Amino acid sequence: RWSLNGTLIDLGSDYRRHMSGGSLIIRNLDKDQDSGMYQCTAFNTLGSILSRRASIHFAYLDSFKTQSVRSAVNVREGQGVVLLCGAPPHSGELIFAWIFNEYPYSVQQDSRRFISQETGSLYIAKVEPSDVGNYTCVVNNTVTKQKVLSSPTPLVLRSDVEIHCGSLTIMIPLFYRLASTMRPCLIGNMSWNSVPAAKESVVKLECFALGNPVPEISWRRPSGVPFPSKVKMKNSNAVLEIPNFQQEDAGMYECIAENRRGKNAARGRISYHAKPQWLQTITDTARSIEENLFWECKANGKPKPSYSWLKNGEQMVAEVMARVEIENGALSITALNLSDSGMYQCVAENKHGSVYSSAQLMVLASAPSFSRSPLKALLKARSGSEVTLECKPQASPPAISLWKKGNEILLRTERITLLPNGTLKIANVTKQDAASYTCIAKNQFGTASTTGKLLITEPTRITMRPTNMEIIVGESIVLPCQIASDPALDVSFSWAFNGQLIDFQRDDTVSGDLMIRNIQLSHGGKYVCVVDTDVESLSTSAILVVKGSPWWMSPESNFCQLQLISCPPGPPDKVSVEEITDSTAQLSWTPGRDNGSPITGYIVQARTPFTVGWQVIDTAVPEVVNGNMLTATVVGLNAWVEYEFRVVAQNVVGLGEPSPASAKTRTEDA
Ligand SMILES: *[C@@H]1O[C@H](CO)[C@@H](O)[C@H](O)[C@H]1NC(C)=O
Ligand SMILES: *[C@@H]1O[C@H](CO)[C@@H](O)[C@H](O)[C@H]1NC(C)=O
Ligand SMILES: *[C@@H]1O[C@H](CO)[C@@H](O)[C@H](O)[C@H]1NC(C)=O
Ligand SMILES: *[C@@H]1O[C@H](CO)[C@@H](O)[C@H](O)[C@H]1NC(C)=O
Ligand SMILES: *[C@@H]1O[C@H](CO)[C@@H](O)[C@H](O)[C@H]1NC(C)=O
Ligand SMILES: *[C@@H]1O[C@H](CO)[C@@H](O)[C@H](O)[C@H]1NC(C)=O
Ligand SMILES: *[C@@H]1O[C@H](CO)[C@@H](O)[C@H](O)[C@H]1NC(C)=O
Repeated sequence: RWSLNGTLIDLGSDYRRHMSGGSLIIRNLDKDQDSGMYQCTAFNTLGSILSRRASIHFAYLDSFKTQSVRSAVNVREGQGVVLLCGAPPHSGELIFAWIFNEYPYSVQQDSRRFISQETGSLYIAKVEPSDVGNYTCVVNNTVTKQKVLSSPTPLVLRSDVEIHCGSLTIMIPLFYRLASTMRPCLIGNMSWNSVPAAKESVVKLECFALGNPVPEISWRRPSGVPFPSKVKMKNSNAVLEIPNFQQEDAGMYECIAENRRGKNAARGRISYHAKPQWLQTITDTARSIEENLFWECKANGKPKPSYSWLKNGEQMVAEVMARVEIENGALSITALNLSDSGMYQCVAENKHGSVYSSAQLMVLASAPSFSRSPLKALLKARSGSEVTLECKPQASPPAISLWKKGNEILLRTERITLLPNGTLKIANVTKQDAASYTCIAKNQFGTASTTGKLLITEPTRITMRPTNMEIIVGESIVLPCQIASDPALDVSFSWAFNGQLIDFQRDDTVSGDLMIRNIQLSHGGKYVCVVDTDVESLSTSAILVVKGSPWWMSPESNFCQLQLISCPPGPPDKVSVEEITDSTAQLSWTPGRDNGSPITGYIVQARTPFTVGWQVIDTAVPEVVNGNMLTATVVGLNAWVEYEFRVVAQNVVGLGEPSPASAKTRTEDA
């Protein structure tokens, strides 16, 4: 809906005006019917809000009244003169120009001649014989593009004349001609009392002086603050232009007109004005019936804005002794009732503009409901732990609640705590606490309840945990992690390596064992098995040390080969199976290089299609294979399985690289 001057516009039978998506479109504008103040109202079932106000003014420019020749202005050479334009009635910004004698000869502005865009007057600081002629003021309306011309004013030279400078009148007789210099005489409205300037506007100050010789104009700020670079001087300094006016540009300005006879100055103050801007606005609010509302809005602006409040587009007035209080930007309503629901607006206003902040007030009145926060149907808790049951119904006004265990009202005991917000806490739970729990909530509009069953589970234990280990590069291991838990619990396992969760890519939570094949140096570190159940979280960890060849033993740096340093032994070779039974195998091999430090022992590893890579295997004859031995009998083999064997030599420096694998050999059947 749109209103004009506060009256609703009836678009029904209007062929000139129509609305499109809320915008008002007016064709064939008419000065009498369409000028005024417009405001838009938006509304739906929840309320209505008003737009800020907009005004339509019609620009126009009347013709000059008298078309007769204006009386001549008599002036003496060297003297200053002012030709008044006297613009006809108008609305909208004007541009002034002067024609000299006949179109198209117009007066060009320079240090001697100036056309004030405030008054339209033409100023000639010092008249020269060439100035004699007819002067016509041209007025141009920038909005309507209308253009009107005054009748011409003849300028003639005379032999003696009065000069007016302020209240001073000086007679200059003709015979003083040669000495007819004059100190600058400031003209126009140059002693500005106070020029109000809006934030971000363009401010223009004009200053011109009559005088002989032609005075020079300069500007300064009496405060001594230099002009910022945005400030421009135009028309031989007669115009000072401040674009994008800001608060720091406000203050005193001084114009100085000077020639060799003396100087004259005019001062004025530019004051800063700004339309309101929000510092604090109101936001949509939901409140229960009978609660209180306090809304505050704040705006800055110069002058200080005043505030008003609208409810559904209507001005709110504070009633004496009533529930609604309004004080400047603050609105308070006590004991809200349903009829307070609606759209509210805070309006901050000064003479430069207004701003509107809108928000919805919802006053809620409803019976309790657990639909958004029911208790879990089944709650599990570890025996001995603390259980927290929350009772969080939606209710306006807030509900009063109580708890039941089975059919009995629950009372406070040493272990049972009932918090004021409805939360129930049971400490050190035991099997006896397993039951159905119900929270019942009530307000004046009704009652609601929610029920959950509490199940108490036995604590989970870890029955097999990984141990710290030393492993050689290339081997494979299993880190065990096994538990005993209450069958009612859902259990999941996860592993972390050096603080990072391991991503197994597949979801295998049945067993907690972690297998690592073909171990690399980068696999050394801390492994943590984490067991999560519905009610608890346990963990156990082990450190895995992976041994292998450091960089200085790599084939590229042949420090070991050159025996510059002692290194772990080189790989043994020619591992062969001499004899095999259903559970043992006799192996032989040849030694590798000792790399500068005698071999102290050997370790045997085995691999089958059923194991994860290479694993250390027990030997029986001998149990510990010393550095002089080149044979060993391995035991504990499985029957009818294809085995490969390899051997790793060791010296005081460490474990060396493994030998190549033996040929595949099958154990006998059992
Ligand atoms: C609206 O009010 C203004 C100011 O009072 C008045 O000039 C204008 O004519 C009014 N407009 C109409 C359409 O009545
Ligand atoms: C000024 O106008 C008058 C009357 O129109 C005319 O007689 C006179 O010659 C004009 N003067 C000049 C300098 O054009
Ligand atoms: C009047 O305004 C129009 C449009 O802004 C411009 O073209 C024209 O030159 C102006 N005339 C004068 C005398 O300033
Ligand atoms: C001069 O300024 C005063 C107020 O400061 C104003 O009322 C008056 O109209 C101005 N005169 C001219 C010619 O601009
Ligand atoms: C709400 O309060 C107003 C007075 O502020 C009263 O006129 C109205 O009847 C009340 N409405 C209800 C539903 O209580
Ligand atoms: C819970 O049990 C512990 C030890 O069994 C005891 O120290 C504590 O006081 C108990 N808490 C309550 C609230 O009974
Ligand atoms: C109830 O109060 C307790 C303690 O004051 C707090 O920890 C808990 O979060 C509150 N619960 C709800 C639902 O507000």
